[in-house]
Amino acid sequence: SDSYIHIHHKNTDLYSLQELPESHTWTNINDNTLTYNNSEKGSNVNVPVIDLNDPNASKLIGHACKTWGVFQVVNHGVPLSLLDDIELVGLTLFSLPSQQKLKAARSPDAVSGYGLARISSFFPKLMWSEGFTILGSPLQHFRQLWPHDYNKYCGIVLQYDETMKKLAGKLMWVMLDSLGITKEDLKWAGSNSQFNEASAALQLNSYPSCPDPNRAMGLAPHTDSTLFTILYQNNIEGLQVKHDGSDGGSGWVTVPPLPGSLVINVGDLLHILSNGFYPSVLHRALVNRTRPRFSVAYLYGPPAHVEICPHAKLVGPSRPALYRPVTWDEYLGIKAKHFNKALSYVQLCAPS
Ligand code: SIN
Ligand code: FE2
Repeated sequence: SDSYIHIHHKNTDLYSLQELPESHTWTNINDNTLTYNNSEKGSNVNVPVIDLNDPNASKLIGHACKTWGVFQVVNHGVPLSLLDDIELVGLTLFSLPSQQKLKAARSPDAVSGYGLARISSFFPKLMWSEGFTILGSPLQHFRQLWPHDYNKYCGIVLQYDETMKKLAGKLMWVMLDSLGITKEDLKWAGSNSQFNEASAALQLNSYPSCPDPNRAMGLAPHTDSTLFTILYQNNIEGLQVKHDGSDGGSGWVTVPPLPGSLVINVGDLLHILSNGFYPSVLHRALVNRTRPRFSVAYLYGPPAHVEICPHAKLVGPSRPALYRPVTWDEYLGIKAKHFNKALSYVQLCAPS
């Protein structure tokens, strides 16, 4: 929507505010659980951490997807230096003066560029964060931000993208394998294991320290519209997932930043592809008073023309297809049209 540009021009340089403005005060629509503690019932409940080199990784990941919709991976092969580098790009970008950042503002109807979180327009209050989305090459926008050394930053983004793409391809097969789906079973994935046709976007998120964190929302609760998302969070707490498990946990659970780990969120399209066996996870980000937080999400989805539907192997007499086929774009459209009118957006794709 065009409102974010308007808002940014008007005010809200979050880094300079000494007080939480009314526009950013969430008290009345929040569920009073703005806290970093894991919920009382679930204090021993933790998001699974999985070693990607574990011979049982596929089984463990399958269990995590089924019961949590989220897990952390270690030994994922992504160099720590690359995580540091992408964080540096983000920190450098977000610490530019507002005027400079606005030169790369996301224009209405575009995906790429600087602005508020894309779900912002669906909520009555503003979030305590700003974002930068990269779809395809960042060259044009980075030139505007850094007329002299854009090349260096473009290089890092390119490298991050390539590295994530490889990891995503690997994770995709591991997740499919855990569902009993083989390479022969998924035509659009192609014969190689890299999912070369898959599409993806990078989302950089910045959460400045906040004068009144208990009444502010870094990123409002949402599920990702992806197959899955690979999230790197810097060393600052803030990410929470909704967990109502049979293991006694319930409510919002903090995903602790483990140095060098990556968080994998099941998104709505994997929810659909798995016929509901791997539900997408509701998550949000909180902010804090003293430490600026940064995260970067690799949003991983199918090629544009591919329709995602419950896989034939997961459909049977006892479990009919719960969803109809949708492309990524169609799904985004459906979700945007009904935002805040439905509890679970995948339900909007029920067969007619
Ligand atoms: C996101 O959901 O895209 C980001 C969450 C986070 O910053 O931890
Ligand atoms: Fe998300």
